Parts: sequence; structure tokens; C-alpha cells
Amino acid sequence: MTGSAGPGAGETAVTTTPEASEAVGRRLAAQLAPGDVVLLDGPLGAGKTRLVTGIAAGLGIDPTEVHSPSYTLVNEYEGADGRLLVHADGYRLADSAALDDLGLEEAAAEGAVVAIEWPRAFTAGGRVWRVVMEVAGEQRRIRITAPAP
Ligand SMILES: Nc1ncnc2c1ncn2[C@@H]1O[C@H](COP(=O)(O)OP(=O)(O)O)[C@@H](O)[C@H]1O
Ligand SMILES: [Mg+2]
Repeated sequence: MTGSAGPGAGETAVTTTPEASEAVGRRLAAQLAPGDVVLLDGPLGAGKTRLVTGIAAGLGIDPTEVHSPSYTLVNEYEGADGRLLVHADGYRLADSAALDDLGLEEAAAEGAVVAIEWPRAFTAGGRVWRVVMEVAGEQRRIRITAPAP
């Protein structure tokens, strides 16, 4: 881990437990503004959903509500103070165009934080964070790139 604040832009967190993936998500949530989009790339089992669980917790959403959207495509969660998290998964979609049809940009425009697993070539106009997760043996490496200032 690269310091208690978690990985900053361009830094890499090395994690070996699901709880650590969740903790990275929690710390990322502290930096997110309404309307931010978080794109999560990495192979199946890398910990993307677990990291989103941490984002949810950090936004004041009950983390036990968070489930993989791999079949539902999009899940929406609301925190106690009205903060919204829209959580999508492009894995089962045929292409990026199908992801464009899920209303994710609209959700961001309305102030939801939008987290997308397997985002393919999805592009969004606003602030976009990129999370790249790699599996290397027992380690899951997590690299976060902040939106361009
Ligand atoms: N950093 C980690 N180290 C070890 N296991 C992890 C880590 N993050 C998540 N896991 C576990 O790996 C499995 C897949 O996690 P999940 O978040 O569903 O991955 P993905 O959404 O990328 O397919 C789960 O059992 C989860 O608890
Ligand atoms: Mg997943």
C-alpha cells in the first residue's frame, strides 16, 4: 500500500485481501464528486465489484446492498443522505454501443456517481477516473488515474 491515503493518481496499491480492495474503494469515494464516472478495468475476479462495494460504503450506502451487476447490467443504490451510486457491468454486452444505451451519462449528469466494470470503450464527457486492476499471483494491483484537471 502506498501510504494511508491509498493510491493517489499514478500510484499502485498492492492488495491481497478483498477487504483491502474495499478499503481502496472507500478512500477513492472520499475524492469523488457528484457526476464522477469511475471506469474499472481488470480480469474477472480482479476485485472490481469489491472495490465498488467500498465506494458505496464511502458514499454512505449500505455496502451489503451492493451486488455484481453482471446479469442486471445496472444496479442503483441510494445512501442515507440521498447520494446515488449507479453501478454497471459491460461484461455481458455485445459492444460499447450497448453500454452507451444504459443511460449512464444521463445518470452522471443528474449527479450520481457512476461506476462501470468492464467499460470497454465507453467514453463520458465529464470527470472520469480510471481504475486498473491486475492479478499477479496472490496480489491484486490497483492503479488509479484521476480525471484530467
Ligand atoms: N485484493 C484482493 N485480494 C484477494 N481476493 C480479492 C481481492 N479483491 C477481491 N477479492 C476476491 O476475489 C473474488 C472476485 O472479486 P470481485 O470483486 O467479484 O471481482 P470482479 O468484479 O473483478 O470480477 C471475490 O471472492 C473477492 O472477495
Ligand atoms: Mg464484478
